[in-house]
Amino acid sequence: AAPRHLMSIADLSPTEFANLVRNGAARKTQVKSGQAPATLRDGMAGQTVAMMFSKRSTRTRVSTEAAVTLLGGHPMFLGKDDIQLGVNESLYDTSKVISSMTSCMVARVGPHSDVAGLARDSSVPVINALSEDFHPLQTIADFLTLHEAFPSSSATSGGSLGLEGRKVAWVGDSNNVLFDLAIGCVKMGVDIAVASPQGYGIPDSMKAVINAAAQGVSSPGKLTETSVPEEAIKDADVLVTDTWISMGQESEKKKRLDAFAGYQITNELAKRGGAKDGWKFMHCLPRHAEEVADEVFYSARSLVFPEAENRLWAAIAALEGFVVNKGKF
Ligand code: CP
Ligand code: NVA
Repeated sequence: AAPRHLMSIADLSPTEFANLVRNGAARKTQVKSGQAPATLRDGMAGQTVAMMFSKRSTRTRVSTEAAVTLLGGHPMFLGKDDIQLGVNESLYDTSKVISSMTSCMVARVGPHSDVAGLARDSSVPVINALSEDFHPLQTIADFLTLHEAFPSSSATSGGSLGLEGRKVAWVGDSNNVLFDLAIGCVKMGVDIAVASPQGYGIPDSMKAVINAAAQGVSSPGKLTETSVPEEAIKDADVLVTDTWISMGQESEKKKRLDAFAGYQITNELAKRGGAKDGWKFMHCLPRHAEEVADEVFYSARSLVFPEAENRLWAAIAALEGFVVNKGKF
């Protein structure tokens, strides 16, 4: 049978998504208390994961390599100058060859069609490690972080993480990290309000993908958009942002810094917008000072370092789900 791939959170039912988050949480507890079961330690023994990265990475690379190691497998890092990914060889040929020798491909690419192309012809699961459209591993880690920050009073099961009715405010660029986060929010019953400058909103085609995530969800989270940061922030439990200049957009730096003036997350903005008293802050990193002030980023409200660590537990959950358990989780 064709393997199952992780291209986006849109590929997962609410229950599957919540199960990945819960499994990440369980593995975190087990490993940190020295109780990793053999099913975890030997899950990928003798198996190689090809990590094909055409862009830089700190968290995704380190978390994936560490996760494969914890599972007893071998992570093989292949940077953009190491292999012929999208250069000098077709994606079809690369995918056929690498999938014939490994158990999984984890790929960081530019256009989403590159990772989708690898998946189309692969005999092993392909996990998207960031494309221009989606960043599913980040979203699993982000929901693990939310699950920890807003624990539900009783154990959660099925398609619920006990986060229904919470509100996320995204203030900044409408990008890959936002798109999968918004899909996760819709599926988990979390409202997400997005504030981006005129001209930097969510493309219509992506809005359709995000809204389609509501299908089959009894009370889906609502997506709203504005160009006024204060409007998005009103009553939010969590303020989230990302860089204003994603990889590949370096030539637009000046134009973007101008367009996003006034979007920096500060305590004053949160207050003016009327965020909830105990509001928290998240950012996938890497961070630049223009999008969030130090007073927020390094404050007690900030979840950014647990969020980054949770990339490890998310990577373990994704590898176990897609590779060890062959897409059934
Ligand atoms: N958040 C994230 O994906 O970071 P890296 O680009 O460093 O992997
Ligand atoms: N939006 C950023 C995320 C990096 C993790 C980028 O695509 O560069």
